[in-house]
Amino acid sequence: MTDAEQVRHDTAEAALDKLDLDTKARLLAGQDMWSLPALPEIGLDSLVMSDGPIGVRGVRWTADDPSIALPSPTALAAAWDPALARRAGRLLAQEARRKGVHVLLAPTVNLHRSPLGGRHFECYSEDPYLTGAIGTGYVQGVQDGGVGTTVKHFVGNDAETERFTVDCVIAPRPLRELYLAPFEAIVTNAHPWGIMTSYNRVNGTSMTENRYLVNEVLRAEWGFDGYNVSDWMAARSTTGDILGGLDVAMPGPQTVYGPALAEAVRAGEVPESAVDDAVRNVLRLAARVGLLEGAPAVVTDPPAAIDGPALAREIAARGIVLVRNESVSGGRRALPLDTGAGRTVALLGAAARDARVLGGGSATVFPERIVSPLDGLAAALPEGTLTFCVGADPSEELVPADKGFDLRAVCRDASGAVLGEGGLPTGQVQWIGDDLPEGATYETMASIEVTGTFLPRESGEHAFGTRGLGAFTLAVDGRTLWDGVQEMGDEADPFEAFFGAPSERARVPLTEGEPVEVSLTFQVPDTTGLPLRAIMFSLLHLGPRRDPDELIAEAVAAARAADTAVVVVATTERVESEGFDRTDLTLPGRQNDLVAAVAAANPNTVVVVNAGSPVELPWRADVAAVLLTWFPGQEGGAALADVLLGEAEPGGRLPTTWPAAFADAPVTEVTPTDGRLEYREGLLIGYRAYEARGVVPGYPFGHGLGYTDWTYESLEVGGATARIRLTNTGARTGREVVQVYLAPLADPVERPASWLAGFASVEAGPGESVEVEIELPDRAFEIWDEDTRDWRRIGGGYEVRASHAHGDTRLTATLDIG
Ligand code: BGC
Repeated sequence: MTDAEQVRHDTAEAALDKLDLDTKARLLAGQDMWSLPALPEIGLDSLVMSDGPIGVRGVRWTADDPSIALPSPTALAAAWDPALARRAGRLLAQEARRKGVHVLLAPTVNLHRSPLGGRHFECYSEDPYLTGAIGTGYVQGVQDGGVGTTVKHFVGNDAETERFTVDCVIAPRPLRELYLAPFEAIVTNAHPWGIMTSYNRVNGTSMTENRYLVNEVLRAEWGFDGYNVSDWMAARSTTGDILGGLDVAMPGPQTVYGPALAEAVRAGEVPESAVDDAVRNVLRLAARVGLLEGAPAVVTDPPAAIDGPALAREIAARGIVLVRNESVSGGRRALPLDTGAGRTVALLGAAARDARVLGGGSATVFPERIVSPLDGLAAALPEGTLTFCVGADPSEELVPADKGFDLRAVCRDASGAVLGEGGLPTGQVQWIGDDLPEGATYETMASIEVTGTFLPRESGEHAFGTRGLGAFTLAVDGRTLWDGVQEMGDEADPFEAFFGAPSERARVPLTEGEPVEVSLTFQVPDTTGLPLRAIMFSLLHLGPRRDPDELIAEAVAAARAADTAVVVVATTERVESEGFDRTDLTLPGRQNDLVAAVAAANPNTVVVVNAGSPVELPWRADVAAVLLTWFPGQEGGAALADVLLGEAEPGGRLPTTWPAAFADAPVTEVTPTDGRLEYREGLLIGYRAYEARGVVPGYPFGHGLGYTDWTYESLEVGGATARIRLTNTGARTGREVVQVYLAPLADPVERPASWLAGFASVEAGPGESVEVEIELPDRAFEIWDEDTRDWRRIGGGYEVRASHAHGDTRLTATLDIG
């Protein structure tokens, strides 16, 4: 223990001694959605948590409290660069400090078991080693800034269907070698100050009550000394949770801890020492982040200020994966684009204009600005050389009123007198707890009117609608169009108001450039006694729908008239989000038809795939180039322009195998049967499964092209170090991610045919050679022995493969270990 750690320890112990049972039990329960109570009697301030992982939303779930929005975790992982993840973490710590947040609820390190997983975009990879390495960098970065992390969701939350109750049945080897492995790596290498236990069960026991995995594995074996917080509303048993090692039940104020926990101690169901252990963990965390008087924070001097938008742009470019880049006329490759004088570009696709920069659910943050592909390319290309057409618009659902709307929320009492007003960047009202406009209270508020103007950007039928439960009145241009009540649906899902389906209420013909008044009045329901008081409803809008064939024809004509066609295809919020899984990997709407038609019209067609996780690309052999941008964050369009024009290299390599067709994916079922989800494939997920079954993926794990060429010159293996020399044989400076896979020559135990054991990236100018050393960790040679319940080294011969991607091996060497 360092001296400072000792002082924190002693201060926490002294503080604990001063607390009575009721106060201790109170400290372990959220006082509201995001924070723990302050205890002035021991000099403890309130600890505030907030979602990540791509930004810091803060305690308000609204666009008027903006945050940086970095690229999705899949994009960060695609950079294969823990040091870059660390820089991302430092920026997030800076954001957290700015917003008064002490602990970030991130990173998400569940695995890409099936591409159907709704939160696939929010996790890093199908490979535990890569996940652990990126997660380690991220946690180190956030904590470098003195802000805590909460590695989540421990463990088995690899899909969303029935996530609150599903029992994931996972055999000991895959549990240890795959699903626990990233948590273990991060805990032992980065010492996170927190962990979040998930909703689901593992092998019959709820994760918030899983004494074995929490107390024995996480704490005793790996030495975790942070706090264990429940996923939001996951804590369901006072005694089960506290005895299972859960320290904090969130959110509050009504939880299974607090008075219920004190009561359980008094009734003799729980020893007070269990409560003390949990309080110790919370006080240690509070001391680390500087909230406990008398204890020095771990970081008193945070790292130098970071330029957020610049880093967001850099990470986006570093995460973009160029999976195909064919020769086009003139013998040059399609990318970087030929920007010779007079060359023109047709930019096509709704997502080129209305960019999808992040995935849905609790990972949502509200960036101050969004640079769309259209913005990015318009800024980068000479005037008059870029045209844009929608081509295909996959968003068939109404979304919160945004572009063209200028709105505010007016709160009134029963007599109609105005109590207070709040700014509204979009049509979404999401006031949680006491986060109400000044002057308004739950007791006095009778109605809330979302009101303002709308300036249409297209002429035609505009649809207006609502999301949320309750009584509404909708008016456009002074005319009441709907006056009605939205009741809770049959499924009675409490999340309906939050993530629920939008309802269209009226269509109005409007003219481009002619503003109209809009108003949606919501009658405030009685929220007294609810576990969480909140106001949640939205004014929704959808622009005019044009005939899809006409849109495609218009795009084809634009593509034909231009030298290059760039088509942006994307998923929508109803496809990739927390809360539900996908059912297929098809791009929504007519986007596949659009690409096929454009590719037939222009051989220089470049497709940009704006999706957080794999989608089928049925036209991929017919286009000149394919770029995967993931959800690229707020500066995505600028980074895309950098890559398309060659200002930056597409730095990404696939962190997950991209199937040619959904049916080829190793795991295609994420719906539990009778509440159980059996991980029957055992160790064979991701590339391990493709290799075992001899299935050729669309694009393999680790794949990604740069703008230069590399020759792997030599590979030497000594001890557990692989030394690789390679030369940049192309014409420009570039970066290569050197990947090392191990393949056992003969296998005395059942293991995958090969696995990732290490990686490193190198940079070199044209003609330059570089050498890189990659340590092969002990764990790469070990399996979990179910009999001894310990790790076992498997001796014998291994082929060490220096590779550009899985299955694209450039050099091999053999290594014999005892
Ligand atoms: C998610 C967590 C998140 C929490 C708080 C839950 O629904 O699973 O990842 O941190 O909500 O928003």
